[in-house]
Amino acid sequence: MLEAGPDIFRDFLHLMFVFWYRKHYIAPMLEPINIDGLEIKYPVFLAPMAGVTDKPFRTMCKSFGAAVVFTEFVSSEGIVRENDKTINYMRFNEIERPIGIQIFGHDPETLARSAQYIEENLKPDIIDLNFGCPVPKVVKRGAGSAILKDLDQLEKIAKWVVRAVSVPVTAKIRSGWDNGGIVAVEAARRLEAQGVSLITVHPRTTKQRYTGEADWSIIGDVKKAINIPLIGNGDIHTPQDAKRMIEETGCDGIMIGRATMGKPWLFRDVIQFLTKGILPPAENKDQISQSFFEHLNLQKENYSLMYAGNLFKPHAAAYIRGMDGAAHMRFEINRSKDIDQINELAEKFFNPKII
Ligand SMILES: Cc1cc2nc3c(=O)[nH]c(=O)nc-3n(C[C@H](O)[C@H](O)[C@H](O)COP(=O)(O)O)c2cc1C
Repeated sequence: MLEAGPDIFRDFLHLMFVFWYRKHYIAPMLEPINIDGLEIKYPVFLAPMAGVTDKPFRTMCKSFGAAVVFTEFVSSEGIVRENDKTINYMRFNEIERPIGIQIFGHDPETLARSAQYIEENLKPDIIDLNFGCPVPKVVKRGAGSAILKDLDQLEKIAKWVVRAVSVPVTAKIRSGWDNGGIVAVEAARRLEAQGVSLITVHPRTTKQRYTGEADWSIIGDVKKAINIPLIGNGDIHTPQDAKRMIEETGCDGIMIGRATMGKPWLFRDVIQFLTKGILPPAENKDQISQSFFEHLNLQKENYSLMYAGNLFKPHAAAYIRGMDGAAHMRFEINRSKDIDQINELAEKFFNPKII
């Protein structure tokens, strides 16, 4: 009995420490979200990236836990014309679900018709509206982020598309056209009023393109203004960045783009950190090699040898970034003519003793 006192005291202290630690360090930071009936347990999304987020890369990211993946933006005009190349951009495998197909354009009716085509023929889980692309070829035609200069047009597009389909419609916006025209809050309010089910904010202006820093405070402003789920995007490179964005903005989920190239396991790391407070050790060379060859084989399955090689080059360079001999390897990869050559180079690079 005499010894029970200190034990109880020690246990009590231990318990207090556990509660304190959980509250401050490992309180799960990811709550499930609901996108118009679509339940997402850990809302960590892969950003749409033209030329990057194709079937093989999306599959890699899914295998590491990406909750929702998106196709790159696809032209609504190309869809209604049933252009083969455009339609191919939208194809996906069942394993990639839940998946969103992202569309862009200027004309509400064309966007609505393209959404109907998608719903009938491809049946994705989400149709996402692109109001963020800053590329001159796109904005000159009044599409992408040019629509942020005309919020009546933005509203009209959302209205037409939401009413045309029964699948959830989401939207991805920038903060505005330039620093004098930050419209994210107003745009988000109008999108919500038209029945959009989720909004992603990349808080850079069109003029900024990808320069400078994303202004996360704008994500926080939008969060306060709407009731549908809000996904924050921009400049997340590490699990700690992800945590900081959620803490600073109150966003309901996050979307990661560039940092996932050559690092699809970032999804696993972010989810583990946000749900359990655990930072997995950095991937070793064998683990990187395994993902590299898995991705390379998916390229082979999906494309012709040459096309697979060309599309894989930036990914290959990203996988080996920072490793011994990476600069020379990158040079060799860039000169290679197809995916088989990249395979041979990579076998020597990752297993120098065996060859
Ligand atoms: C090469 C590249 C292509 C992109 N293509 C698209 C696109 O098709 N649709 C879109 O909404 N955003 C696109 N983006 C923007 C990203 O989705 C994301 O908003 C941006 O990169 C910021 O996030 P990050 O800092 O995590 O990369 C692209 C970005 C890059 C770098």
